[in-house]
Amino acid sequence: TTGQRDRRFHFVRKQQTFRMSTFRNILPSWNKDCTKHVYVRPPPWSDSLPTIYTITPTYKRYVQKADLTRMSNTLLHVANLHWIVVEDSKKKTTLVQDLLKKTGLNYTHLNVHILQKLTSKGSGQRNLALKWLRDNISVNDSNAGVVYFADDDNTYSLELFDEMRYTKKVSVWPVGFAGSVRYESCKVNELGKVYGWEVKASPNRTFAIDMAGFAVNLQLILSKSDVNFRLFNISHGKQETRFLKDLVTLSDLEPKAANCTKVLVWHTRTSAPPQFRSFGDPNIET
Ligand SMILES: *[C@@H]1O[C@H](CO)[C@@H](O)[C@H](O)[C@H]1NC(C)=O
Repeated sequence: TTGQRDRRFHFVRKQQTFRMSTFRNILPSWNKDCTKHVYVRPPPWSDSLPTIYTITPTYKRYVQKADLTRMSNTLLHVANLHWIVVEDSKKKTTLVQDLLKKTGLNYTHLNVHILQKLTSKGSGQRNLALKWLRDNISVNDSNAGVVYFADDDNTYSLELFDEMRYTKKVSVWPVGFAGSVRYESCKVNELGKVYGWEVKASPNRTFAIDMAGFAVNLQLILSKSDVNFRLFNISHGKQETRFLKDLVTLSDLEPKAANCTKVLVWHTRTSAPPQFRSFGDPNIET
């Protein structure tokens, strides 16, 4: 039931010498060879780079298509990225299905709907993505990789993906506009070790970090096969710390983004559209 696409994208060798930049639209050679799909061209897959498994829970709302479009445009710049999109829905929607197909990204499309009201939205979806990884990739595989939980309403710097790609266990970095402050971050000592958290909300958590602020080595996820997000009896803001406690200790953490001094991801939320929501043709997706 997964819509996994062909891993390899058949670029002509010489095209790889072009920087994958935003200007590629106007390069005459791109236009000549890639006119069929105007925006379907992630960077070529490389056998030497670890894969970034990006897990994104999503749900139907007014700004869903706008958010997913913006996010997919970011991911199209990232080499060796596999996007696991998990809908909170009883069935896969055509909106998400069509959008994923058009991106040209290497993706897996899943869905699960949990009836009970959870304190932590997205946990059921994230757990299904973890199950997919454990079911589809063997712990003995030599495939290096990293797992990142990336919600569809954030803004991601491209540098962030370079920072996380070689995560050995768990890497961490600051998150902008999280926890009701300008940014939340990790405290790093002179030895380059994380020893605490620069946060306002519940600073005594072992891992006082936002979902967007860490990535986990794929082998660690696969080897600790019973580690999942809690669906019940977990208070708001404790989901990340519970999850990470089962995987690592504080001394295992690898601080990224210049020892946690650079913000490379932001909790930018898209505001709901203006009035007159019932205006117009309901068949036109927005
Ligand atoms: C991080 O801090 C350590 C220890 O002070 C230092 O050796 C290292 O160069 C720093 N890394 C960066 C990227 O600033």
